[in-house]
Amino acid sequence: MIFYFSGTGNSLYVAQKLSENDGIKLIDIADAIREKHFEYQLEKDEKIGFVFPVYFYGLPTVVAEFVDQLNIKSDSKHYIYSVITCGGSIGNADKMLKKLLEKKNLELNSSFSVLMPNNYTIMYDVPTKEEQNLVLQDAENEIENVAKLVDTKEKGNFAFHGYLFPFTPILYPIYGIYRKTKKFYATEDCNNCGSCAEMCPTEVIQIENRKPVWIKEKCSHCSACINRCPTRAIQYGNSTKKRGRYVNPNVKFS
Ligand SMILES: Cc1cc2nc3c(=O)[nH]c(=O)nc-3n(C[C@H](O)[C@H](O)[C@H](O)COP(=O)(O)O)c2cc1C
Repeated sequence: MIFYFSGTGNSLYVAQKLSENDGIKLIDIADAIREKHFEYQLEKDEKIGFVFPVYFYGLPTVVAEFVDQLNIKSDSKHYIYSVITCGGSIGNADKMLKKLLEKKNLELNSSFSVLMPNNYTIMYDVPTKEEQNLVLQDAENEIENVAKLVDTKEKGNFAFHGYLFPFTPILYPIYGIYRKTKKFYATEDCNNCGSCAEMCPTEVIQIENRKPVWIKEKCSHCSACINRCPTRAIQYGNSTKKRGRYVNPNVKFS
């Protein structure tokens, strides 16, 4: 079973690739939270994977919330691994997951990272199409390697944590500031399609008077709305007006 979270498709793509040969079940963490589905029955020896993006060198709030409530029903021990997608490095995200799992008496046996195009257009411009293609090409090898190591239940830390990882205690709290939704708005390019409200994993967006409104103080900050808006109508303050948008070209969102 693979539990995944993805704003713009990178982690979804990795989860799909890892599940494609064995018919492994994919569970969308955002759906699971919406449906309050936290209890999972596992087959004997079934592997458990967590695939998600790193945010500010740590865990997306959605992932932390889900793991906190997760209830694995099983009599046997399972091989547990994480694959964290990143635009550079994963900092302490795997260690944060490990700690949360330990509270459930579950052991994170191995940790992997996959370098993907950076989707954080709110902070940096996204890579050019050429840069994206190069990163996506390299990612194929990385995913293949992860698949091989997971297949043989290799244990260890295979992730790239980056040189700034000791600063996670400083960087991660900045996530709390950026998660504030007050800077999001839709311009006159909005065609009232409602897709932002539908895709928002934390149900923070509502359509009011034919325009999206961010109804909670904070969101998961996954950047799905801003990157996947079909008319590029969503902005975050002034910073995103001249920046590009990114969606993984190899996935289709259902
Ligand atoms: C709020 C936010 C914070 C991010 N922080 C980091 C980070 O600390 N390090 C990094 O390498 N990439 C960071 N990124 C980039 C994403 O982790 C990366 O692009 C990821 O593959 C996106 O996955 P997704 O398409 O499944 O949502 C961040 C992206 C967002 C939206």
